[in-house]
Amino acid sequence: MAILVTGGAGYIGSHTVVELLNANQQVIIVDNLSNANVIALSRIEKITAKSCIFYQGSVLNKALLHKIFTDHAIEAVIHLAGLKAEADSVCKPLQYYETNVTGTIILCQVMAEHQVKKLVFSSSATVYGVPDGLPIKETDSTGATTPYGQSKLMVEQLLADLHTADNQWDITILRYFNPVGAHPSGLIGEDPCDIPNNLMAYICQVAVGKLKELQVFGNDYLTPDGTGVRDYIHVVDLAQGHLKALAKLSSNSAIATYNLGTGRGYSVIEIINTFEQITGKAIPYRFSARRDGDLAAYFADVSHAKTALDWHAELSLETMIESSWHWQSKNPNGYRN
Ligand code: UD1
Repeated sequence: MAILVTGGAGYIGSHTVVELLNANQQVIIVDNLSNANVIALSRIEKITAKSCIFYQGSVLNKALLHKIFTDHAIEAVIHLAGLKAEADSVCKPLQYYETNVTGTIILCQVMAEHQVKKLVFSSSATVYGVPDGLPIKETDSTGATTPYGQSKLMVEQLLADLHTADNQWDITILRYFNPVGAHPSGLIGEDPCDIPNNLMAYICQVAVGKLKELQVFGNDYLTPDGTGVRDYIHVVDLAQGHLKALAKLSSNSAIATYNLGTGRGYSVIEIINTFEQITGKAIPYRFSARRDGDLAAYFADVSHAKTALDWHAELSLETMIESSWHWQSKNPNGYRN
């Protein structure tokens, strides 16, 4: 039996596929390569000395999904394919709702037709909107502020409704905090197509000389040093969280939601200082206005994942930074070397 990973060539997907192959799972990837590079697949093979089956295509392509489920014995799906940039989603709401919501509907329809009802879904901490309090618990209220966040919430709701209608579905929703870092081999990592939006990817490109300086968005937040605080989690820890979620998907046909974070927040200034210490690279920066939609601080309550999934993040901030830099310095242009 195989695991289908949608979006398996992307940043989180590629790291998840490595962990699956290392655990001797058979893996099938479907990815339209809209924000991923096919070279990641050969790198995965190099790391694991194992191969997976790859289909290039979108989760909107129902005929393709049918073919995949007909041709392979699929046990469960890890659904990572989707668009993920908050600001971009404000300009392209239809594209975001189509890919993220319609894509999930089509995937679930095909899964149901083939009697595959085990699903791990990639959601985001963005669904909490302005937090009720810190740390954020899975039971806290939700409220997205962008089409991206809204699309994640809509999918969470439709999965809950699906489980109510047919309790044979076994569904795990993973709400990621801020994934950073790269595989220790330096062979796979985050490879933004454009100028990065996310902090760690931006800092790496400043360090490697591709970007001149970092803008720190706001230094007047109610945080210890005035800059934004986030719960950064190593992508390898995150990938292992998916394996724990898969192991838990069982015959008890439940729907469950887990935060995947470390439970500890770091400020932008702490990230810059630690990056400089570890890499010996200076990160020129200047303070600028707050970015629209940003919050002062958020970090996860991770006790639910620890108790129910037997999972917790193990890798330190230093390891996150070291591995990000290892990947970036070995691959200054990402996969386009
Ligand atoms: C962003 C997304 C979120 C997504 C997450 C992980 C937004 C508003 N949110 O979260 O939906 O799940 O990435 O991919 O886009 N910062 C700077 N300068 C920069 C970039 C960031 O100061 O050039 C600061 C931000 O203000 C924030 C922190 O760094 O305080 C982290 O930012 P970022 O990496 O973009 O993640 P989030 O905004 O938390």
